[in-house]
Amino acid sequence: MSNVEKVWVRVCNLDDIPAGKTINVFVNGQRFALMRCDDLAFITQGYCTHMLFPLKDAKIENCVMTCSLHGSQFNVSDGSIKHWPMQANDDILKRKALQTFPTRVENGAVFVQWSGSDASKVRIKF
Ligand code: FES
Repeated sequence: MSNVEKVWVRVCNLDDIPAGKTINVFVNGQRFALMRCDDLAFITQGYCTHMLFPLKDAKIENCVMTCSLHGSQFNVSDGSIKHWPMQANDDILKRKALQTFPTRVENGAVFVQWSGSDASKVRIKF
């Protein structure tokens, strides 16, 4: 079990996230991809694990994100790969899963769980 402290940080309102595509969110200056799937929101790393293409504006359909460059597909809830543009064994596909972060929606607001002990020190920008 990790000893790293975690806090819940408010990101935005769920309604601020467009349906059907990802948007950028910068957390402490680092780019991530933010998306919604019905009444849930998800945050993944900001670059595709195939060839590091930015995931901004990636298509979201049925909770699956499609990278615009070569069509890799990821389950947004856990980052696992649904489609990969080339042949790869299970080990590679596991390693190439997108990093995801725990999120929750409460009263229409999206929160992400982040490392740290003080939510007010986590900078969120769009
Ligand atoms: S960089 Fe995303 S599929 Fe190739």
